[in-house]
Amino acid sequence: MATQEEVFKKVTSHAKEFGFVFQSSEIYDGLSAVYDYGQNGSALKKNIKEYWWNAMVQLHENIVGIDASIFMHPTTWKASGHVDAFNDPLVDNKDSKKRYRADVLVEEYIENKLVAKINKEVAKASKRFGESFDEAQFKSTNPRVLGYQEKIKEVENRLKQVQEDEDMTGFKQLIEDLEIACPISGSKNWTDVRQFNLMFSTEIGSVSEGANTIYLRPETAQGIFVNYLNVQKTSGMNLPFGIAQIGKAFRNEIVARQFIFRMREFEQMEMQFFVRPGEQEKWYKYWKDIRMNWHKAIGFPDGSHRFHDHLKLAHYADAAADIEFKFPFGFKELEGIHSRTDFDLGAHEEYSKKKLRYFDPETNESYVPYVVETSIGLDRMFLAVLSTAYEEEKLDDGSERIVLKFPPFLSPYKVAVLPLMGKDGLDEKAKSIVNTLKFDFECTYDQKSKIGKRYRKQDAIGTPFCVTVDYQTLEDNTVTLRERDSMEQKRVAVHELANILSEHVNMKNVLKKLV
Ligand code: GAP
Repeated sequence: MATQEEVFKKVTSHAKEFGFVFQSSEIYDGLSAVYDYGQNGSALKKNIKEYWWNAMVQLHENIVGIDASIFMHPTTWKASGHVDAFNDPLVDNKDSKKRYRADVLVEEYIENKLVAKINKEVAKASKRFGESFDEAQFKSTNPRVLGYQEKIKEVENRLKQVQEDEDMTGFKQLIEDLEIACPISGSKNWTDVRQFNLMFSTEIGSVSEGANTIYLRPETAQGIFVNYLNVQKTSGMNLPFGIAQIGKAFRNEIVARQFIFRMREFEQMEMQFFVRPGEQEKWYKYWKDIRMNWHKAIGFPDGSHRFHDHLKLAHYADAAADIEFKFPFGFKELEGIHSRTDFDLGAHEEYSKKKLRYFDPETNESYVPYVVETSIGLDRMFLAVLSTAYEEEKLDDGSERIVLKFPPFLSPYKVAVLPLMGKDGLDEKAKSIVNTLKFDFECTYDQKSKIGKRYRKQDAIGTPFCVTVDYQTLEDNTVTLRERDSMEQKRVAVHELANILSEHVNMKNVLKKLV
């Protein structure tokens, strides 16, 4: 049985082999943590975007979309806190010359050394006590577990303290006290910890005109905040209302690994929901539910998602949670839901000296709205969909197939039309079927190679249906319809195809589950 790591490797090489994801500028040996989407990848990505956009904007009368620029006035990033506080604490191992995020080293220590030990104790006890095992009671009474919990608390508190105080000497001391070793060299020979800003900068204007440093946006949210009043005034919307956006963001990530999980150039799908001060808790809970439902409606296996409520909050938040997804390398953050208070609009008011207030016709008051944000990485969502879909199957005849079992509404192609032979009028008939279906469904046509091989190729890119045109088709206008997951084939009339496809591949059917 392949390990999760081996499966993940197979997923990444499959993604390249079948035109989903390529390393950026690969002919020059690539650029680390930057990727390009190929012909099938860009189609899958487009469908995920559409699912998000339709669920957020089309299904909510009080949410509108915008498309703000990547470049913004540099003061934006001063006001948002990114210039001063968007840093990662970095530390190098002098022997392996590898660079790490100091906080990640400590968090991995907690997970691998302490949480793992608690889980082991729980598993042992659960086996011992069988059905009568009460996990909560065991955890709150077992002395060894209590000891580990105590240690976790102590390490977390120290981590929180050095982060809050930006105490880089204390950070190094913490790593030394925990005796954390470099996973590569195994040594504890660390440099000092130092802060590293994650924003990419460039210059705008020619030097003679006076160059000015600007940043590539590290989140799309600020494009929404600075346009809040423009949208509110021109749309006439009353609170609560939301502004949604999909767009590129850039971060000079140091821990850049796990394929497209952590990239330097990536896309975010963000929505800021503007609410009355005091109502943020209600809306935070509301959006947590709505977003979890969006994920679940896709049809992932049960247990693929969980909430991780933040104990340690960013300076701008009064509540925050991640929706974590079970990636092949474990549960990791896929989406963040943040109650951002009035921090961002308040800061932009202060720095721009422009009023960003909302006049509430119900209370006759003016105030800076509070904001609940939902923020999901499109590339991470892509990875969640791709890695869950990947399956290797042994078939009854002893052969194997690799199949991407995408939820049909997300598949790059919904149907492949395949003439049994590329001659005798079968090719023309197949093309005429494509020409009738292509207005409603993403279709592909293939007449090369044996039919079995063509089915495998469509399985490998996740096409839910294949339509085969044979000699009988010319006589009675019926085709063979093959379903990807069951591989079942049935004879159907050409005029039935659109209805059958609609029933199984239409995004509308999934969106309806959300309302
Ligand atoms: N506006 C809030 C914000 O940007 P975040 O937690 O830093 O919050 C939100 O990012 C989401 O963006 C994450 O949950 C993740 O899905 C995605 N994301 C963040 N950094 C990323 C990176 N380097 N590569 C890919 N996706 C990333």
